[in-house]
Amino acid sequence: MANPFKPSAGSTPPLLVGRDDVLDDFTAALSDGPGAPGRLAFVTGARGVGKTVMLTTLGDIARGEGWEVVDETATRGLIDRLTRSVRAARHDTGVEDKPRTRSFSVGVASLGSVSKEFDLPPADPHDLRIEIGRLLDSPVMADSGLLITVDEIHTIATDELDQLAAITQHLIREGRNIALVMAGIPQAVDQLIADNAQRPRVSTFLRRAEMMVLGKVDEADVAESFLETARRAEREWSADVAAQCAKATRGYPFMIQLVGYHTWRAAGAERISYEHAERGIEVARRKIGQLVHAPALQDLSDVDKTILVAMAQDDGPSRSTDIAKRIGKNTNYVSVYKGRLERAGMIDVLPNGRLAFSTPELREYLVEHAAHFVMNPWTEGQSL
Ligand SMILES: Nc1ncnc2c1ncn2[C@@H]1O[C@H](COP(=O)(O)OP(=O)(O)OP(=O)(O)O)[C@@H](O)[C@H]1O
Ligand SMILES: [Mg+2]
Repeated sequence: MANPFKPSAGSTPPLLVGRDDVLDDFTAALSDGPGAPGRLAFVTGARGVGKTVMLTTLGDIARGEGWEVVDETATRGLIDRLTRSVRAARHDTGVEDKPRTRSFSVGVASLGSVSKEFDLPPADPHDLRIEIGRLLDSPVMADSGLLITVDEIHTIATDELDQLAAITQHLIREGRNIALVMAGIPQAVDQLIADNAQRPRVSTFLRRAEMMVLGKVDEADVAESFLETARRAEREWSADVAAQCAKATRGYPFMIQLVGYHTWRAAGAERISYEHAERGIEVARRKIGQLVHAPALQDLSDVDKTILVAMAQDDGPSRSTDIAKRIGKNTNYVSVYKGRLERAGMIDVLPNGRLAFSTPELREYLVEHAAHFVMNPWTEGQSL
């Protein structure tokens, strides 16, 4: 029996834990018709929280309702690729390129004017708006629409995002059956919204989008998902062991898959036991650093990282005053970064104001790799 867990970026898990509300809201937005708020949405959350998987799932829901879905990653050439995909979707619905003709007059002094008709090439390949309009005009699309998903928004060139914002706004204003769901890490969204002076259209556009903020899920739901996955595969996994595994995930989606996968694997064909769970959890803890924390740290600024390294010196939650002392700054300075790191899903700010790592594995990873960060040129001679 193949291992049902999917511990790799973008892979759809056997069970999507704890996201029913988001899925219900989106389903409602599709049936509520043009202008429903959830049709322009932004999925955000820390690395490994399930943004890409959410886009895939929303796409599946839309397809189930008969919608066309175009999935894209926001690298350069986005608008061009979207145009091609929408055109391909239009061809699939049976709407061919109309041979378009245009007549114009050529004046020849002695003969008066002569009319000539020229065949024009198909619609401008870059004109995404026209393509979408033609797709949605297709009779087979009368009761459905087009969903565009754009992942990794932080990698998009802002001029293309600007174009996409303009096109979508027009289509929404025209009452078209269109939905756009984008995904990105919180820092990217914050930055784009803050960039009001440079790109007012993108900033306003994002501010209007419905934010689907993904976070940790309930540990009880995680335990239930382990049991359900085992039931489906006709494997035995006791409630106690499932609860032990769920606790180790702390409700963190990537950890759900890692713990599930490695526990399943440790058990082989046997009944899943405490020992298997212990082995699985240990492997999962080792792997999460490379898979999630390394890329997450890369997204952060140098000061963000410096603060995390300073936090890792404490055994438990850190006090802002201690962190400020360690980095040679005042507490106001630290509180700005505290907010940023909390938004990025790296830390939790406790009710008493202390800073705690969002997962214990992040602390371990930083302790193990502190030398790497400390020796980087950004810490040497950098004035904070
Ligand atoms: N709700 C969930 N329940 C169980 N597993 C999940 C859930 N959401 C995501 N996962 C699993 O977590 C892992 C990471 O998911 P995904 O790649 O979608 O995260 P992401 O937020 O897009 O990460 P990144 O920011 O690095 O792109 C995958 O293995 C996926 O199967
Ligand atoms: Mg992703």
